[in-house]
Amino acid sequence: MKGIILAGGNGTRLYPMTYAGNKHLMPLFNKPMIYYPLSVLMLSKIKDILIISTPEALPTYEKLFGNGNQLGINISYAKQEEPKGLAEAFIIGEEFIGDDSVCLILGDNIVYGSGLTGILEKSSEFVENNGGAIVFGQYVNDPQRYGVLEFDENKKITKIIEKPKNSPSNYAVIGLYYYDNEVIDISKSIKPSDREELEITDVNNVYLEKNNLNCRIFSRGLAWFDAGTHESFLDASNYIHAIEKRMNLMVGCIEEVAYRNGWISKKQLLKLAQPLLKTEYGTYLERISNE
Ligand code: G1P
Repeated sequence: MKGIILAGGNGTRLYPMTYAGNKHLMPLFNKPMIYYPLSVLMLSKIKDILIISTPEALPTYEKLFGNGNQLGINISYAKQEEPKGLAEAFIIGEEFIGDDSVCLILGDNIVYGSGLTGILEKSSEFVENNGGAIVFGQYVNDPQRYGVLEFDENKKITKIIEKPKNSPSNYAVIGLYYYDNEVIDISKSIKPSDREELEITDVNNVYLEKNNLNCRIFSRGLAWFDAGTHESFLDASNYIHAIEKRMNLMVGCIEEVAYRNGWISKKQLLKLAQPLLKTEYGTYLERISNE
């Protein structure tokens, strides 16, 4: 399975923070926001990753991650010239995906919690072996900001509605999706929405109509944030800060995930820690290398 992080857009909802810089490079507590979705793909055991961003921001991502070898993964890059919708990721990434299945994660989505790694691994295995798509829902207070699940009386999903004025439920669709290879053709077949975007929700509805959409509801033990507004950005930062301080662990620590996955050696981990040793981030890496 391949992985795509979509980190494009103009970040207009975070202005003026994002006037001059890409949203997904902004610090979420102690690391760039994109570390969190990258760590989720790595926890899914995905090693081939495409970062899609704006032409202006891509050089900075390349500076940050290079080709990914230092983390035992392969990172490549592609441009999204204009924010034309999430589903465009599969058209831009067509060659990268090849004949494979693919996991898409949005660069501003942060997921964390008990049992997450198992869910990610199983989801990727499921789609690789059975095809179709997997999406995740979570109960939220402000569903109108998201794609929202509509259910019938038997709790079967009937439709997903993008940013509904009157939400049919409180279950929002998280920005983490697993698809078989058909997602490329489906993305090419859908038409832009009223906001002129190729909507991921339309892609998911095609899978649903074909009876090929699996939806897993995130339990209470799992936290999901999108850092899409000033307040949700701060909430996510505060949450990460609280968890890290209290539990003496790091969330979204890509070097740690690479090491625990067995993709880099202790020596390589210590090399990555070296320039960071004036920070708690660096001393944390040193600590886990001695566990
Ligand atoms: C996008 C999707 C939406 C999904 C959300 C998750 O919204 O269109 O369906 O629920 O991500 O963060 P956008 O970020 O484009 O507003």
